[in-house]
Amino acid sequence: MEINSKIIKELQADYGEAFYLLDSAQFRQNFTELKAAFNAIYPHSNIAYSYKTNYTPKLCRIVNEMGGYAEVVSEMELEIARRVGCAANRIIWNGPIKNVTVMEQFLLDGGTVNIDSREELDVVRGIGQRHSDAVLHVGLRCNYDVADGVVSRFGFDVDGADFREAFDFVTSANNLKLINLQCHFAKRQIDYWPARAQGMVDLLKRLDFIPERIDIGGGLYGKMADDLRAQFSGKIPDYASYAKAAATVFADYFKANGVQPELLIEPGSAVVGDCMKFLATVKTIKQVRGKWFATVMGSQKNISMTGINPPIEVVAMGGERRHYADLDFVGFTCIEGDVLHRNYTGDLALADVIVISNCGSYSLVMKPPFILPNFPVLDISEGKTEVIKRGETFDDLFHTFNF
Ligand SMILES: Cc1ncc(COP(=O)(O)O)c(C=O)c1O
Repeated sequence: MEINSKIIKELQADYGEAFYLLDSAQFRQNFTELKAAFNAIYPHSNIAYSYKTNYTPKLCRIVNEMGGYAEVVSEMELEIARRVGCAANRIIWNGPIKNVTVMEQFLLDGGTVNIDSREELDVVRGIGQRHSDAVLHVGLRCNYDVADGVVSRFGFDVDGADFREAFDFVTSANNLKLINLQCHFAKRQIDYWPARAQGMVDLLKRLDFIPERIDIGGGLYGKMADDLRAQFSGKIPDYASYAKAAATVFADYFKANGVQPELLIEPGSAVVGDCMKFLATVKTIKQVRGKWFATVMGSQKNISMTGINPPIEVVAMGGERRHYADLDFVGFTCIEGDVLHRNYTGDLALADVIVISNCGSYSLVMKPPFILPNFPVLDISEGKTEVIKRGETFDDLFHTFNF
């Protein structure tokens, strides 16, 4: 996706001084490449896209068109999946708390609910009793140690009595089908990927059971520029390395079995992280006790990146530039820590535009209505300018309050 001062000027004229650029072409490419990497080792692999990471309807629709599943964690996300045309049997509902009424209808429609707790098992038990003539598809969220130092709060401890009870119940009830065993581990380092796969295989062996789908969750790094890569300790694996680390374990295990259940991963960041940029116009440049600050029409809240200095490009827009050292690009909010990028050294003029890359995951979906409504999202990656989300207005945010 090419961005230059001419393109930016045209977009500013129509959409204002700050906006996101969505790269849906890149998203399609990432989806294809990641799926191909897993398919090369384990042919029956697929992607269940993590909606929470970036639930922009256009992206969700692309996933559905490309044959992926929707991985949702709330009735809100379930509604998005429905509205972009996902059939219920292409939707997997994870998450610790689910609306019971919506869950009941979803199960009757043929969707998969991954049960997260004993309490939820009881709810499913009740739904099953109320609909003895329906076949309900359920999964179990499995929790085991992958030596990542985290005691996760999600799902059933596979060594506990609750898991055994849940497994026995869903495999013995006439109208429940245990279609899915699922796990997710948040740490993205490749070191934990063989362990998550092996943990699942060990469980299958112990249970002497093969579900239709094995879902090993998300938690993969995506593609990133070298300056971002350099800020992480350790190597950033590529798609093929994750596939090698995990899919090989299943390929080996099922080689002799004559069956190959579908292997799912639930990426969010890995497919969408590099598919969004945030552009913000420089409004003021000042020096305070020797330190330079440029305030932009934009905020750290727009990009939600913490703990790293995001990749930045500064586009000259025609103003008279001078050289700065260690300048911080700061946001429109009144928070001291609202810094989009630290210690920029280079040329800058008022009205220049900063372009922050790699802000496709956990950005738009986590932007609070703090100080200002959010900016528009545009997609220029497919040869035209498509408004993905118009800029928010005062009324968008305040119509739920009583004045
Ligand atoms: C169950 C589940 N699946 C998938 C994801 C996506 O994770 P990521 O964006 O890190 O790949 C998450 C993130 O929290 C998750 O909780």
